[in-house]
Amino acid sequence: MSNLIFPKSWNMAEGEATPESVYMNRRDFIKGTSITTLAATASFYGCGIGPTPNRNAPIEWSAIEEKIYPVKRNTKYSLDRSITEEKIAAIFNNFFEFSEIKSDPSFHAQALSTRPWKLEITGLVNKPRTFDLDDFYKLMDIEERLYRLRCVEAWAMAVPWTGFPLKALLDIVEPKSNATHVAMTTFYKPFTAQGQLAFWRPWPYTEALTIEEAINELTFMALGMYGHPLRKQHGAPIRLVVPWKYGFKSIKSIVKIELIDYQPLTFWNTVLPLEYSFEANVDPTINHPRWLQATEKMLGTGEVHKTRLYNGYEKQVAHLYG
Ligand code: MTE
Repeated sequence: MSNLIFPKSWNMAEGEATPESVYMNRRDFIKGTSITTLAATASFYGCGIGPTPNRNAPIEWSAIEEKIYPVKRNTKYSLDRSITEEKIAAIFNNFFEFSEIKSDPSFHAQALSTRPWKLEITGLVNKPRTFDLDDFYKLMDIEERLYRLRCVEAWAMAVPWTGFPLKALLDIVEPKSNATHVAMTTFYKPFTAQGQLAFWRPWPYTEALTIEEAINELTFMALGMYGHPLRKQHGAPIRLVVPWKYGFKSIKSIVKIELIDYQPLTFWNTVLPLEYSFEANVDPTINHPRWLQATEKMLGTGEVHKTRLYNGYEKQVAHLYG
């Protein structure tokens, strides 16, 4: 196929990434892409299209965020492809609390109140603590990282996330030596997030990592994206990003983190255990029953790339599974 791309390595010169100026002006979010483009993109991926895509909903800013953004990029984390345009990412979301139609969370998620927000860290830790959103900006070294995100549905994005490594947060609460897993939970507000009225699903959304995965340098807590705080459809005000795993592991709008000594049940692994494994590492050789995994298609550009083991992050994570 003429548009098949076989990169030699996951790294590339920084200059090949989309320049910051394309997306960094937080007040000037692009308004131009037509509904036709969205419809074409969504139907291309075999998804329905909702009536209300809303890529321009106002972003909530606290005073501290006004001062902090945009945040310096950590150039250690680079891409082998251009950054996905924000106007595409903002209206193509998996956020089942709000809808199963990709363009709907951009509208429906705006009903979620994300400030104030509390995140409780509990369980097998020496110093359990509940954090406010501003605590993260005060306590953490906030940085921007360019990561690939690969959905098990065989589409992919390349995203500038703003946040901090999960390990830095765990260091504050001090996991006990018998903690083996880190479990995370999304909010539960079925009257705001009406997808949660689907009684046959195990709400609230949950995900988990082993403690070794949780303290890996790549495991990132995102507070922002594209140089500003997270939009609600992307999991405001705080979400996980684990770039070597399929996107469903990157749980959104987290309210609780619990350190435990067993492998917990998680949302998709409970719904369809044969389709969504607990580990869920990106692997081109293991097909999902509905999506072949050998290649992936970039949102927006439609470029097709060969899928790489661990989404190309083999160097950082292969030792976890050796
Ligand atoms: N987190 C919650 N709480 N609910 C969800 O439905 N979907 C997951 C993940 N996190 C999901 C979630 C899936 S399947 C993917 S691919 C990514 O979020 C999509 O993130 P994005 O919408 O920001 O691209």
